Amino acid sequence: MTTSIKQADRDVAGGLAEEAVERCVALANHSETSIGLTRTYLSEPMKSVHRDVGAWMREAGMEVRVDAVGNIIGHYSADRPDAKKVMIGSHLDTVHNAGMYDGILGVVIGIEAIKSLNGARLPFAVEIVGFSEEEGVRFSSPFLGSTAIAGTFDDSLLARTDAQGRTLSQAIGDFGLNVDDIGKCVCPAGELLAYLEPHIEQGPVLETENNSLGIVSAIAGQTRMLVTFSGEAGHAGTVPMRTRIDALPAACELALYVERYGRCITDLFATVGQMTVEPNVSNVIPNLVRLSIDIRHPDDETRRVAVTQILMHANSIAERRKARFAIENRSDRGAVAMNQGISDVLKKAMQGEELPAPELVSGAGHDAMIMAHIAPTAMLFVRCKGGVSHHPDESVSIPDVADAIRVTAGFLKTFSTSTKG
Ligand code: GLV
Ligand code: MN
Ligand code: MN
Repeated sequence: MTTSIKQADRDVAGGLAEEAVERCVALANHSETSIGLTRTYLSEPMKSVHRDVGAWMREAGMEVRVDAVGNIIGHYSADRPDAKKVMIGSHLDTVHNAGMYDGILGVVIGIEAIKSLNGARLPFAVEIVGFSEEEGVRFSSPFLGSTAIAGTFDDSLLARTDAQGRTLSQAIGDFGLNVDDIGKCVCPAGELLAYLEPHIEQGPVLETENNSLGIVSAIAGQTRMLVTFSGEAGHAGTVPMRTRIDALPAACELALYVERYGRCITDLFATVGQMTVEPNVSNVIPNLVRLSIDIRHPDDETRRVAVTQILMHANSIAERRKARFAIENRSDRGAVAMNQGISDVLKKAMQGEELPAPELVSGAGHDAMIMAHIAPTAMLFVRCKGGVSHHPDESVSIPDVADAIRVTAGFLKTFSTSTKG
């Protein structure tokens, strides 16, 4: 490629990157809260997100559908009939009080990459997916969108309730979707040539090493549990300190142990992110406390040992304090390696843009963990400011997003030279 063509490509990508960031900012207005961004699975604002994302997909030349679990999919047809497809995507749901880019940027980059093709067709179709749910906020179970596409959706979750008591099944109906069609979300085996997920890094490595982009080599495994301590409610001013069974200090002891354990093991992340107290009244001894525990490590055995140790310690706290204790496993996923061949295509695309292609492990979970079970999968990380995420201060730069759009488009072009579709 001559220097002037390359510069023209860069100018185009710069314009598309500005648009991508504007679009992420615009989508942040679709929130369940009047202040900050919170958009959980199949919440009302997801409808207006689908309206806007769908319009951008159509403008880029895609046909748009929303499947039975609420994934929005833009289909960019191939240069031939009966071609297989490549998927690019990430998620459109958020955590509470979220940043504007986690998940959303990956979907928008995919749309901009298709737009940059200017209508040129490839020997395979490309589908841009906005997964409906990755964070697991509303039903305490992540990856509802991607498991439906991968054919590993757990039907037993349909009866699970959200904080308002709506079941997952009802939430699907409330959104105007048909729960009986979940089986139709599945992407048939062999139809998918590759899955690529662009995503902000959510960590500091790219920034520290002064790289705009990186390739994910593997995604750490994660276990999410809900632990309940039950004690005895009673009067805060009359039940003697020595005889009360207070569930809250038991839970606090465990939370401190989780933190201590996490600090002692290299590369282990151990978090108590949620605690609910009942009856949650200042003059009543708490009789029930639920706390979430999230454990992650790139090595599955280390994670399993951590889970066992933490639960043994929870049991010993409960025994010592004469409290009852129960565990509910909410999600358990092993570490997932990315596909070498597809990552090499990504690397080639980065080299084509004269960008370094550093490799890094993702501590955060991604839909790529699920898609890797049905397709050769790769992930492209984009530098984010300070490594901050799951926080309103999430931030990306337009030049970095421009790099990501050019590399994503370059990935499709490079891949098209190595496949007949
Ligand atoms: C998703 O962001 C996760 O919790 O890893
Ligand atoms: Mn997230
Ligand atoms: Mn994410």
